[in-house]
Amino acid sequence: MLLLSRTQPALFFILLCPVNIIGLWWAVGSPLVMDPNSICRKTKRLAGKQAELCQTEPEIIKEVAKGAKLGLRECQFQFRFRRWNCTSHNKYFGKIVQQDIRETAFVYAITSAGVTHSVTQACSMGELIQCGCEATRSRAPPFPTSGPGADGSKWEWGGCGDDVEFGYEKSKQFMDAKRKKGKSDIRTLIDLHNNEAGRLAVKNYMRTECKCHGLSGSCTLRTCWKKMPHFREVGDRLLERFNGAFKVMGGNDGKTLIPVGHNIKPPDKQDLIYSAESPDFCLPNRKTGSLGTKGRVCNSTAMDVSGCDLLCCGRGYREETVVFEENCLCRFHWCCVVQCKKCSVRKELSLCL
Ligand SMILES: *[C@@H]1O[C@H](CO)[C@@H](O)[C@H](O)[C@H]1NC(C)=O
Ligand SMILES: *[C@@H]1O[C@H](CO)[C@@H](O)[C@H](O)[C@H]1NC(C)=O
Repeated sequence: MLLLSRTQPALFFILLCPVNIIGLWWAVGSPLVMDPNSICRKTKRLAGKQAELCQTEPEIIKEVAKGAKLGLRECQFQFRFRRWNCTSHNKYFGKIVQQDIRETAFVYAITSAGVTHSVTQACSMGELIQCGCEATRSRAPPFPTSGPGADGSKWEWGGCGDDVEFGYEKSKQFMDAKRKKGKSDIRTLIDLHNNEAGRLAVKNYMRTECKCHGLSGSCTLRTCWKKMPHFREVGDRLLERFNGAFKVMGGNDGKTLIPVGHNIKPPDKQDLIYSAESPDFCLPNRKTGSLGTKGRVCNSTAMDVSGCDLLCCGRGYREETVVFEENCLCRFHWCCVVQCKKCSVRKELSLCL
């Protein structure tokens, strides 16, 4: 059944895919227009944890949808100069998430991370009744050697810390929801691993923020709280994991994953894993979800993935001058208007053949 689902249209995928929010993305339409109501209408057809969440906690679903969008936007930022640029073009995106390649791993991880981030953020903003700021920690670390208190000044937990545990749990409930119990194929194991890696990219990198109290900033006492990393940092970190992703294969029992290759340390929980090599994404291919790179803007002086050599797959590129209007010669008039002129700006672009 599961094998079948990979070659069948959207509906089959939604019904059978064990980890389904990403399937829902493209069943509902572009992830960018995904709204909570349509997620829940679709999940009505599904049993299990997601349908339950839709019924009992619709407000959380709204944050889940926001988180998925946050993840997608970050994916598009991180891959903006690469052959595969995380385009949300439905048909092609759908193909990507049905494979077991590195790109699939990144999409799952960044989505789970986005959901963790959005739900937690909503808690801190007081937008959900189920959660709020993190409960004040009662214990301070005995004698911190770094961070607040290292210099011997007094401090205590307080303020509004991010309750990342809550976001983590909700992301887990929603993203890891399985359609069928006990169904464990290798692909499911890989997806679940990458979901967790995404959540940990948020949860394991909390930072401490503090505020000084005392007369005119004397800082006799500080209040500190935990904040999540900025989502850009989460994206940067997951891109590193993408670059160092581990190839795995299924063990004989069908329940374990074995790293491929000799002398390779096994992946840890934060690593991304995949089991199939990516296509080169040079030419359009419906089967692999590749749009090809013809017409993409490349950088003729860069030697990395954004350089024309790599991005255009050796086909070469052409220069094109584009003209666009920009505000210029802006002047400030007292008070308070800024007046600008319109200038035409010419820009040389290199475009892949
Ligand atoms: C992503 O790639 C597609 C196809 O190659 C292209 O049409 C689209 O403009 C690209 N998006 C960005 C933001 O570069
Ligand atoms: C092109 O690549 C060069 C060298 O890496 C870099 O300095 C420059 O900023 C890049 N240009 C653009 C438009 O990204």
